[in-house]
Amino acid sequence: MNFELTEEQIAVRDAARNFAQNILKPGVIERDNNQKVAHEELKQLGELGFMGMMVDPAYGGGGMDTISYALAIEEISKVDASVSVCLSVNNSLVCYGIDKFGTEEQKQKYLVPLATGEKIGAFCLSEPEAGSDATSQRTTAIDMGDHYLLNGTKNWITNGSTASIYLVIAQTDVAAGHKGINVLIIERGMEGFIVGAKEDKMGIRGSDTHTLMFNDVKVPKENRIGEDGFGFKFAMKTLSGGRIGIAAQALGIAGGAYELALAYSKERKAFGKEISQHQAIAFKLADMATEIEAARLLVMKAANDKDTGENYDQSGAMAKLYASKVAMEQTTEAVQIHGGYGFVKEYHVERLMRDAKITQIYEGTSEVQKIVISRGILS
Ligand code: CAA
Repeated sequence: MNFELTEEQIAVRDAARNFAQNILKPGVIERDNNQKVAHEELKQLGELGFMGMMVDPAYGGGGMDTISYALAIEEISKVDASVSVCLSVNNSLVCYGIDKFGTEEQKQKYLVPLATGEKIGAFCLSEPEAGSDATSQRTTAIDMGDHYLLNGTKNWITNGSTASIYLVIAQTDVAAGHKGINVLIIERGMEGFIVGAKEDKMGIRGSDTHTLMFNDVKVPKENRIGEDGFGFKFAMKTLSGGRIGIAAQALGIAGGAYELALAYSKERKAFGKEISQHQAIAFKLADMATEIEAARLLVMKAANDKDTGENYDQSGAMAKLYASKVAMEQTTEAVQIHGGYGFVKEYHVERLMRDAKITQIYEGTSEVQKIVISRGILS
């Protein structure tokens, strides 16, 4: 087993770390307070090649491996999980989906601007009544011969108003169940497509999460990805890789909180010495470091599985399940180590604790990950 990173992977990680610490950190509290999307910073990340990291350079991407991608998401999440979710959705759901399953025309028209960061994408699966139960799609894409007529509502869509290219999952043939589902590429500005209300969220407040409405939107047939009925499998295959990105995000949130708690524990004095010298705090730090390292190994294993062509459905689900649990638990510990300071915004750890929670919910709840893992074990 080789646990060494390559020079290229280290360079990507360091570039992401520098960007996070120097460019994202100064404004992160204000963006969180005001629910402001980091538009300018996202543009810069696009110019640096972080929006289509794993896409073939022929389509404007970075041609990097999944390990590099996970390292970048981890570093950015240590500081700003609102930015990293935007990156994660764009890279591992939208770019990956078009890159892997799209036609040459779809790649030229949509993948190139997404991979270069000129445009941002959104992945639209969840509905008011279809979250974990993703086969219960109520949005319909009726086959009208030369186009589909799209009607319905999507909920909790990350990048809802920042995006201009949307992958929308919809039911074409109700009788065929999940085999009657398609995925269509929708562009901002198509008639009948409305970006609805923005959610006022507990965490990742600097990302925009919206309801989207589709009222008789005419979608050209050439905007369908894959064969007729491929939409559900498209979503499942794409989400399997997306979960590696969210696992890396959770790992970064936990790691960011740990680094802050460690530094604070060496500065803050109580009962005549630094609090890190008290065993109550030192043992907490030991647990945090151990759990974060275990989560890192799971994330790297899943990323490596994807890079080496192994099946990563299970390893990705395991990484997400465990890393998101570690994120929730260890950010809470980081607040505890900071005491009263941890409860105020200036010290960053309360935001990381709020941000951690979503990693147990989106791209499949922890319960969904357990469905995927247990089915793998039992099949
Ligand atoms: N790859 C390929 N095919 C897959 C697959 C995978 N990973 N997983 C399932 N399938 C196939 C199955 O083989 C089956 O096909 P056949 O009938 O031909 O055999 C078909 O898909 C249906 O599979 P299941 O019977 O397993 O489906 P299910 O209804 O039992 O659901 C589930 C399984 C795992 C719970 C699934 O519904 C799921 O993942 N739900 C959660 C959805 C989710 O993650 N939502 C997040 C929204 S996106 C988001 O959050 C993005 C964001 O903004 C951050």
